[in-house]
Amino acid sequence: MPPPSYRNLLFSTGVILLLLPQYLCSYYERHKCFATGDCILSTAYFAGGFNDEYNRWITECNDGEAIVGIFDAVRMFIGVEQVWCKFMFPYKPPSRGIYPFYSQCNVRNQTMKEYYCYDKYWPKDTVDTFATALYSNVFQDPGVPSAMKCCKTPAGYNLDYSRCEWKYTHDKNGEHYDGYWLTKCETGEVMTGLGQAISPTDGLSHFVWIQCCPVIFTGAVNSKQIYKLPPPPGNGYG
Ligand SMILES: *[C@@H]1O[C@H](CO)[C@@H](O)[C@H](O)[C@H]1NC(C)=O
Repeated sequence: MPPPSYRNLLFSTGVILLLLPQYLCSYYERHKCFATGDCILSTAYFAGGFNDEYNRWITECNDGEAIVGIFDAVRMFIGVEQVWCKFMFPYKPPSRGIYPFYSQCNVRNQTMKEYYCYDKYWPKDTVDTFATALYSNVFQDPGVPSAMKCCKTPAGYNLDYSRCEWKYTHDKNGEHYDGYWLTKCETGEVMTGLGQAISPTDGLSHFVWIQCCPVIFTGAVNSKQIYKLPPPPGNGYG
């Protein structure tokens, strides 16, 4: 076999160098968790997957977590480059790694301008729901969410709708907070809405605000609520 030509070598090195950032940045750095109950999710090149309420989405918080903030440093919130998930419900019995993490969820369609988890036409289903996942159908960086998964607070928890607030992605001059986590809920709040609007500057649709509502714990902790370790499973899928 002849030795590989210099040109071939250059080409394969180029291909490897081209693919390397994707593997390093997207695959291994997509889900960065800290020991504080906080995880930062990257949306880069993670489009597709499921978009219903029964299956796990590609950009989805872990068990007991809620979305509390969004970040973009690339396209001035035309997309959402990163999502901040926070562990919010310490009294929720863990799902032990089995999906779904929350028993009741709904899908909100950004394309249909369903910007809030709460829907006045379906109050029973949507009251006390908060965002846990974002869905994008276009493979790009940053991802542009077209749907949002909202789940009911676990037993004992509610949202205090009298104290909800909006956090904007831009200042009073319309300058976007690119590169800062300023579009983030306060301590104790979860994200319950993600709004889009056309910017007068470029005529493009940008994510302009998130809604944040405080979580209140209303359930008294009794011995029944305290989590007991179940017996270990067998080696089947039962
Ligand atoms: C959202 O609505 C659009 C337009 O009706 C539809 O094409 C799309 O499939 C919907 N997305 C989801 C996640 O249901």
